[in-house]
Amino acid sequence: MSAVLSRHAARESLAVRIAVPAGVLFTAMASLATLLGIPPSEASERAALPAPAAAMALPTVEVVAEPAMDPCVDDAVVTALAAGDDAATVQAFGGGAEFQAAVVSGNAPCISLDDPHRTWVVVNKQRPLQPEHYAPASLAAIGLQATSRSNELRPEATAALEVMAAAAAEAGAGTIGINNGYRSFDVQTRTYGSHVRNKGQEGADAVSARPGFSEHQSGLAFDLIACSSRCGSHEVFGDTSQGSWVAENAWRHGFIVRYESGKTGTTGYAPEPWHIRYIGEQLAAAYHEGGFHSLEEFFGLPAAPDYVH
Ligand code: DAL
Ligand code: ZN
Repeated sequence: MSAVLSRHAARESLAVRIAVPAGVLFTAMASLATLLGIPPSEASERAALPAPAAAMALPTVEVVAEPAMDPCVDDAVVTALAAGDDAATVQAFGGGAEFQAAVVSGNAPCISLDDPHRTWVVVNKQRPLQPEHYAPASLAAIGLQATSRSNELRPEATAALEVMAAAAAEAGAGTIGINNGYRSFDVQTRTYGSHVRNKGQEGADAVSARPGFSEHQSGLAFDLIACSSRCGSHEVFGDTSQGSWVAENAWRHGFIVRYESGKTGTTGYAPEPWHIRYIGEQLAAAYHEGGFHSLEEFFGLPAAPDYVH
């Protein structure tokens, strides 16, 4: 990436100039002469030095704000966005960390965290899918053992999940299967309704999104299960070797564990080690390397513990 693009992250860069008054230099030179044992015959030259008051003056530091380049007018960004190429867009910003920093600093007005077509969309209790009935333009079946008919994702997420499952098996972590992938608004209505019937609304809201508010509707999120002779429930995935491996390695394949322990006040949900969200390799690496544990914190968004209404 060009050096110019590396400035995208911050709205302003700071240039610092240090001006040292001439008297300071003269006095410093005189002190150096004494230290070096310069003969007194040269004392008359010292008498010509500026008054000591000048030596007390502090260097002047001038801080100048320079406007950073707007990444949204950069040709590579404009082209990648228009092509719907999310990975190329992030790359055009300079990489995952630069993209994130630009978004957080407000220096990326062309990046909408509301756009459900984008892998960087943020969906939570205060950020419904827009439109509410959004459905992905295309879905691809996941080639893993499945325990429901909800076994599709957006093609890039399906491809990355299959690669991740193969890597987990190769590493000796065991077989990964899929419980739920994409859920339409109507399916989410039934899923949430069933939780309400079983637990009441408050109990349901702790574990299930209301229709129009689920990441599953984006086609970028899914619930994993561990399979050996048979597949277990997604609710025990976190206690399996597959769950441990995914927690450590999902980022390498473009994924994050979306609802982590200790983050209920931010995400609005009880921990779900099985619920995995695709954000693309560059952003997932920045998320991991930055030590983030919620998408809200990663993008500098407010916590979303509850619905607005
Ligand atoms: N279980 C997650 C929060 C969902 O329903 O989307
Ligand atoms: Zn889920």
